[in-house]
Order: sequence, then structure tokens, then C-alpha cells
Amino acid sequence: MVKVAVVTGSNKGIGFGIVKELLKRFDGVVYLTSRDDGRGKAAVAKLNELGLKPEYHQLDVTDRDSVVRFRDHIKEKYGGIDILINNAGVGNSIDFYPPYEECKTIIDINYFSIFTIQELLFPLVKDNGRILNMSSACGHLSNIRNKDWIERLLKKDLTVEDINEFVNWFLEGVKNETFKYDDIADEGKGAAYRVSKVALSALTMLQQKELESKNIAINSMHPGLVQTDLMLGLGFYDIDQAAQTPIYLVLDAPDSLKGAFVWHDRKVVDWYDYKGDYYFKTNYFIKNCAQKSE
Ligand SMILES: NC(=O)c1ccc[n+]([C@@H]2O[C@H](COP(=O)([O-])OP(=O)(O)OC[C@H]3O[C@@H](n4cnc5c(N)ncnc54)[C@H](OP(=O)(O)O)[C@@H]3O)[C@@H](O)[C@H]2O)c1
Repeated sequence: MVKVAVVTGSNKGIGFGIVKELLKRFDGVVYLTSRDDGRGKAAVAKLNELGLKPEYHQLDVTDRDSVVRFRDHIKEKYGGIDILINNAGVGNSIDFYPPYEECKTIIDINYFSIFTIQELLFPLVKDNGRILNMSSACGHLSNIRNKDWIERLLKKDLTVEDINEFVNWFLEGVKNETFKYDDIADEGKGAAYRVSKVALSALTMLQQKELESKNIAINSMHPGLVQTDLMLGLGFYDIDQAAQTPIYLVLDAPDSLKGAFVWHDRKVVDWYDYKGDYYFKTNYFIKNCAQKSE
């Protein structure tokens, strides 16, 4: 049976880098997917120039009909998925404190879309398959400063409802203008992005419990600070470097690595270490990128 790997949001950036590397190393078919056919096909053409041949399908993770069409296509053509990398995501615009509508869009794409993927694509993932949720340093619990939410997210019996309430607490606060930005690290800069990724990493651990019966490993990771459009071209790594740890996680990591939060250097980080120094620091990043380019 032909093996299948799927990468969401892979017409550019880290997802494109992952597809490129999978095409070199994975013994099977690799799907480059994009929400926009024009951008997707242009990305395929770039890989073809390098002699690499991905399969292509349109996939907008926030559009249920699009996910259904992709699910049906895979089911009919290959029957299942061996590797699924949930990479699609958006960052903040240049505004560190965006209005409600932008916060909602960020959270819909980076967090709520995963429920559609979970419902429609997870059932196609074969026994012993691997799933990776692309989180961020912004997805570590140390990004949260509100004591009540830290306590709740630390609960051993955390539920999906708890995580959704956390996300909705943030969104309601922004909508009503009651949100206190010092409830989030780094003076609350990019809070919507942080909340979306903290929620995604917390959810990954719950998803692992559900996938246990099929022996599927699901992890979330921080890919490093990478020179992509999302980072306005700033960062310490290029997309080829950034693809290495995702590839390790889906191809080479031991079967025992499950439900973990993994750093870009492959180290497993304790996601619950809310006092840890893992959260994203805007000023440090800008200063060091500026020094790097001098
Ligand atoms: N770059 C970093 O330093 C960094 C750090 C931590 C985490 N990450 C995470 O890594 C992942 C990739 O980011 P990147 O830096 O490579 O960003 P990027 O270059 O902006 O690429 C993001 C990709 O996601 C796609 N996308 C956005 N919304 C989508 C949707 N609704 N459905 C399907 N695809 C969608 C984009 O498509 P379009 O071209 O159509 O917009 C694009 O292909 C994201 O989850 C991001 O949060 C990145």
C-alpha cells in the first residue's frame, strides 16, 4: 500500500520546506496543500524545477467543505494517511494589539480549525501513523501570566471544554475591552497568537490520549524563529533548517515520543513549566535580528 504524507499550509514557509525534505526522504507520496490554487500550483512548479514531484490538492483548514473534499480525495485515491503535519497558521499583522476581528481570525486558523481536521482527517490516519501540530515558543505555558488560567491549564484532568473556555475568555475580553494584557507574557504583545498556540499545544496532549488505541503519535513543536513571511522575513533559521526537526519527529523519533512539546533542537520541553524561560520575547528577538543583519 502506498504511504501518504500531508502537510497543511505548504505553499510557502516552513510547510514548503517540510514538503521539500519529505520528498527527498519519505518513501511514499507527499501532498503539498494550499488554500489558494494559484499559490499552491506555483509552489509545485518550484519543486518540479528541482526535480521533486509532490502531489497537490487545495486545502483551506478553516473551510469545512474544502477539508471534506480533501478527505474524500485521499480516501478514494490512497485510502489513508501515514503522516499528517498540521502546519497552516497565521501570525499577527504588524499590530501587537490587534482588534477583535483579527484576534478571532488568528484563533480560528491556528486553533479552532484543528477540530475540523481532527473530525475529518484523523480517522484516515493509519495505525502507527504520526501527526505533528505546529505550535510555537508562543505556545508554551510560560506565555500565560493569569494565575487562574495557569492553575486550570495545569489540571491533570484538563478537558477540551477547559481549553475552549480559555480561548473564549481571551476573545470575549478583547471584544468587551476588559482583557488585561499583563495576563499574558511580554506585555501581552501578540496575545491572540500566544493564546491560539498555547491552546493548540494543550489540545495536542488530549488528542494523544484519544489516538492511543491506534498507536498514533501526536506531538506539538516550536520550529525556531524562522525567516518566513509570518516573521516578516526576520529570524535565525531558513526554511530548510527549520524542516529538520519536523522531519525527525515524523520519520525518525522513537515510538515512545508521544504527546510531547518539542523544541526546534529536538529537546522535549516540559510544557507545564509555567515559570520557565520559554516564552517569546519580542524586544530580544528584534534586537538580535537587527544585530544579525548588521
Ligand atoms: N516562522 C517562525 O518563526 C515560526 C515560529 C513559530 C511557529 N511558527 C508556525 O509555523 C507554521 C508555519 O509558519 P510560517 O512561518 O512558515 O508562515 P508562512 O510563511 O506565513 O506560511 C504559513 C502557511 O500557512 C498557510 N495558511 C494560512 N491560513 C491557512 C488556511 N486557513 N488554510 C490553509 N493554509 C493556510 C499560508 O497560506 P497563504 O500563502 O495562502 O497565506 C502559508 O502557506 C505556522 O503554524 C506558524 O504559526 C512559525
